[in-house]
Amino acid sequence: MADIRFDGKVAIVTGAGGGLGRAHALELAKRGAKVVVNDLGGAVDGSGGSSEAAAKVVEEIKAAGGDAIGNGSSVTDDAGVAHMIAQAMDAWGRIDILIANAGVLRDKSFSKMEIADFAFVLDVHLMGTVKPAKAAWEIMRTQNYGRIVVTTSSTGLYGNFGQSNYGAAKLSLVGLMSTLKLEGQKNNVHVNAICPVAGTRMTENLMPPEMVKRLAPEYVTPGVVFLCSDEAPTGVILTAGGGVFALARIYETEGVYLGEGALSVEEVRDNWGKIADPSGQNAYFAGGEQTQKFFRKMTAG
Ligand code: NAI
Repeated sequence: MADIRFDGKVAIVTGAGGGLGRAHALELAKRGAKVVVNDLGGAVDGSGGSSEAAAKVVEEIKAAGGDAIGNGSSVTDDAGVAHMIAQAMDAWGRIDILIANAGVLRDKSFSKMEIADFAFVLDVHLMGTVKPAKAAWEIMRTQNYGRIVVTTSSTGLYGNFGQSNYGAAKLSLVGLMSTLKLEGQKNNVHVNAICPVAGTRMTENLMPPEMVKRLAPEYVTPGVVFLCSDEAPTGVILTAGGGVFALARIYETEGVYLGEGALSVEEVRDNWGKIADPSGQNAYFAGGEQTQKFFRKMTAG
């Protein structure tokens, strides 16, 4: 089969001044894409900022013979996002790919967490994905081509101590993807999620140095770049790291119909085994499929 190329395609990668985003941007550029490298250039907790981080990656891409533009805006800033979109459109006239990768951490146990830290982390991850996606959406729909990758996390899918804000933010992106995948389908706009495991400045203190090396961001990037390709599926959560690739899915058990008469709390307790029984469980592609199951079971009685 032919190599996957992005010649003539335009990509925006947010938070691409370092870590995973940088690796995604370099690989897309190596394969022919023109890339807007966005990064606020702040610390892991989102404080500070400088356009230097993005500028350095632009230099790397250009030194390797690629084409790139830097953008130092915050993904939460409306004017900054509008400028980023305008930069891509003015220079290259289209936007084919958006990798929403920018992210921050403000870890604390829920009992110690300030509401302001909760709101900040939600804003960067959720609105910092929604705003660029919304700004690129009509462009992609009009082109009848678009690939969007949102960045979720095992914390969002499964939880991690001290990361209630981050987990809530990260699973919100799966919710966003699940509806955008449906709304984009008619116009060939595919929307997927990456759930990375990588040794970056965000995680290097949580892992032994040997594992940081084996979990280099470059091991996540092939999965992300595949999700940006013509052959990308839509609506999947791809987990990737250290050479391992898998899909995460939300399953619902077949469940049980307990009737609509004198339903009691005890009946729920007494049928818990049937409610939780994994045989015949399903991963639905749209909410309506779950409703169909309810109708089917109610009709069957
Ligand atoms: P990183 O800290 O190296 O990269 C995040 C980048 O986003 C930084 O360069 C930062 O300056 C930028 N950024 C932060 N706020 C921004 C804003 N408002 N506007 C624009 N840029 C902003 O960390 P890493 O690990 O590369 O993270 C990339 C993404 O992957 C994040 O969304 C993170 O939550 C996610 N992730 C990473 C995992 C890992 O194992 N490293 C695990 C699961 C998710």
